[in-house]
Amino acid sequence: MEFSDLLINWYLKNKRDLPWRKINDPYRIWISEIILQQTRVAQGLDYYNNFIAHFPDVRSLAEADESEVLKCWQGLGYYSRARNLHFSAKTILEKHGGIFPQNHAEVRALKGVGDYTAAAICSFAYGLPYAAVDGNAYRVLSRVFEMDTPIDSAKGKSEFFALAQELLDKKRSALFNQAMMDLGAVVCTPVAPECVHCPMQDVCLALAHGRVGELPVKSKKVATRDRYFYYFFIETGGYIYLHKRESDDIWKGLYELPLVETPCPMEADVLLDFAQNTLFGKNFPSPQVDKIHSAVTHVLSHLRIHATLIEARAAFLGDASSEYIKVLKSDFDNYPISRLTEILLTQR
Ligand code: ADE
Repeated sequence: MEFSDLLINWYLKNKRDLPWRKINDPYRIWISEIILQQTRVAQGLDYYNNFIAHFPDVRSLAEADESEVLKCWQGLGYYSRARNLHFSAKTILEKHGGIFPQNHAEVRALKGVGDYTAAAICSFAYGLPYAAVDGNAYRVLSRVFEMDTPIDSAKGKSEFFALAQELLDKKRSALFNQAMMDLGAVVCTPVAPECVHCPMQDVCLALAHGRVGELPVKSKKVATRDRYFYYFFIETGGYIYLHKRESDDIWKGLYELPLVETPCPMEADVLLDFAQNTLFGKNFPSPQVDKIHSAVTHVLSHLRIHATLIEARAAFLGDASSEYIKVLKSDFDNYPISRLTEILLTQR
């Protein structure tokens, strides 16, 4: 039997029942795919249902405030994905009259939509013959066909895309793509794959040669950088100070406590001098520090953030005060914050 028949027959018997599989609304499929790039299905389901409850269609997303969109994304990470969803919803409203584009080139041109997402949307919503190659597909293909080309190289990308496109059952592209994802997610897993339950066990070259654990190959190691964040929790008369991250850095668009970032770890007294200059204003009285919590290490894909929460009292923030907003404590939950900020606040 051919690869695609083995795959689809297995899928038809084993498929997971997921809400975005019962629909062909390209908008909802797009949302599900972007969410699922961030998280596993189990957690993604709640985010998907909540997101669709808030923004059931392109127009509602396009017309929302960015903060509302980020709030629905809170905890998923890679907030640029949410900002791109918002941006592209506006594009669809403005350039496509609110109708989700229906051909591959126009879907692929949306901000935040790459080759994988375009193929997923076009096959699931319109049955167009595009193979969607995600991490699951790379893993399945590298093992079944014993391909050693690194999957994070340009050569690997073009080889794997060409192979997937050749294997694709063009009349059943949605089934083929869903099946590939499920096989990778459920059977051909990164660790401890269940080869005994795999529909490919008779044709898998890596299994025949005892190389399943070696594949896929990756070439690059991502360098991890350390950053040192000192956050000041300053409460005054039922308000707390917040700051909106605006620069092209992690967490753009999210809110956080007033932050002092330093190039290396600092002792409390040096840090407070530093903070006096950058945060409180040279000519203002020093804040009263009530508590310095122990540092928390928070790991993102390429960063290790060492974050310390400092509880302090100050009547106002000095020189840079225009960057800070005073927020009623009871309104705080309306502001999108990073997972790190959430974790730090539970230390109090
Ligand atoms: N991961 C990415 N897209 C998916 C989908 N449509 N179904 C299940 N898992 C997925």
